[in-house]
Amino acid sequence: MLLKKKENLSLRANNMIEDIKKVGVIGAGTMGIGIAEVAASHNQQVYLYDLDFEFANDAKSTLAKRLQSRVNRNKISPERRQSIVDNVFVIADLNKISDCQLVIEAIIENLEVKQKLFKKLQGICHPDVLFASNTSSISVTAIAAALDKPENMIGLHFFNPAPVMKLVEVIAGLKSSKTNLDKGLQLCKHWDKTAVLAQSSPGFIVNRVARPFYGEALKMLQERLFTPETMDALITSAGFRMGPFTLMDLIGIDINYSVSQTVFASMYHDPRYRPSLIQAEMVAANLLGKKTGEGFYKYDGTDKAKVVFESEQEPAKHISVCKDSTQLDLLTTQLKNNNYFVIDEHKGGVSIIIDDCAILLSNGQTCLERSTNVVQKHMAQIDLTLNFSDCEIIHIAFDRKCPAYLRNKVVGTFQKIGKNVLICDDVPALIVMRTVCMLINEAADAVENCVCSAIDVDMAMRKGVNYPIGLIDWADRIGYHHVIETLENLHHWFGDDRYRVSPWLRKRC
Ligand SMILES: NC(=O)c1ccc[n+]([C@@H]2O[C@H](COP(=O)([O-])OP(=O)(O)OC[C@H]3O[C@@H](n4cnc5c(N)ncnc54)[C@H](O)[C@@H]3O)[C@@H](O)[C@H]2O)c1
Repeated sequence: MLLKKKENLSLRANNMIEDIKKVGVIGAGTMGIGIAEVAASHNQQVYLYDLDFEFANDAKSTLAKRLQSRVNRNKISPERRQSIVDNVFVIADLNKISDCQLVIEAIIENLEVKQKLFKKLQGICHPDVLFASNTSSISVTAIAAALDKPENMIGLHFFNPAPVMKLVEVIAGLKSSKTNLDKGLQLCKHWDKTAVLAQSSPGFIVNRVARPFYGEALKMLQERLFTPETMDALITSAGFRMGPFTLMDLIGIDINYSVSQTVFASMYHDPRYRPSLIQAEMVAANLLGKKTGEGFYKYDGTDKAKVVFESEQEPAKHISVCKDSTQLDLLTTQLKNNNYFVIDEHKGGVSIIIDDCAILLSNGQTCLERSTNVVQKHMAQIDLTLNFSDCEIIHIAFDRKCPAYLRNKVVGTFQKIGKNVLICDDVPALIVMRTVCMLINEAADAVENCVCSAIDVDMAMRKGVNYPIGLIDWADRIGYHHVIETLENLHHWFGDDRYRVSPWLRKRC
């Protein structure tokens, strides 16, 4: 019975999509031509309109050339290329989209201009047309307010390049109808995209949740704790595809700064989204990243400064690892599996003990603060990584009084199991733990505030910005208590409300 109901539902959804045979795409820039390709590749006729007709024609020619190079590389057949190209009609007269069942707007990011366009479109199109905006930062509710039937409008937020990126955020404006949101979700499925549903709100899912990836890195740079090279190396070693500084240089410092400013203003100046003064200065100096030849790095052919790891040291022969499970389990297993070490086992929460040095996963306190809770005379904290058995770098902070011979023994011990070791000052939460806890907090807060579901926030960050694992999933692995403890310790250390813990995390404990 239930199965039959489900079948009927999906049949109805499929029918809805089958009805969408003609798609209007307004704006033939970076996103518009990409969206046109997506629809045209799925047997929909695309009517492509741009204020600049010649520009739209050129965009179609560029698409045809790009597809030809795919034919040349045997990625698609010549027939497939031809059918995609033939499905795109560049139009000079906007009235030609009158019988489109779906119209997607990808014009400049300006509310008044977008509203003016949709007002015009509602006079041309069928009253039940589905309108979609590809806006990345404007409220879909606000754009839809220009329409007599705001329920006809949804957001379809594609990522660049649209034909390649799997994710589409389907955005619900306050008045978007349930039927139209369902249509949006089914359309994405038809286009082989992964759809996530988000309420219209600043930054939607990805551009909101990713803010701390840049924000914390910039704050650590402002505090002169680490260099961009070190932070990028640690973040990539922890499992991310690209470090924050390399990524900002690629996106463009001006673009990244402007998104930060928009989200900050839209969130009524919540300190969590505070833009960085470093970026403001870089924009003023025209150091915009790769496109201007210099950003955090130089792009003039000179090599990036290399991260210098600790020189080779003698490992400890005897080490003691915790009998019970700890957050450094994968590291202790690696140590245990190395025949060189004589292993003792101890009870209690300290993951590894080398001589009189307790080694723990960082929790947002400094070693100096935390050392009062351990019986060993000295202590070290290790930075987070997604998988301690795969990671290449161990990032570690010692208490200030830890003698050099003991530090060297700890360093040598991790080198013995194939790790590069990087020692840093005794700062709270180091690099990856600080960044990931802030990302988790942001993801949790998006769920807490009903922007999206926990499943969708994880899907969005994996498919939209290639995070190695969903952030809620990551919180599960670290342990909610540990994430909360780290954020509380950072909050205490900095006295800054940006580190306040999302209630959603507390509810998980
Ligand atoms: N570029 C990205 O990475 C990206 C990613 C996701 C979403 N977006 C959003 O997509 C939209 C388009 O961005 P883009 O990067 O493709 O911009 P773009 O500047 O490359 O292209 C915009 C095109 O719209 C045309 N245009 C401007 N006003 C018009 C009007 N009134 N009628 C018809 N055409 C008009 C312009 O001539 C131009 O060709 C924006 O809302 C942007 O926020 C961009």
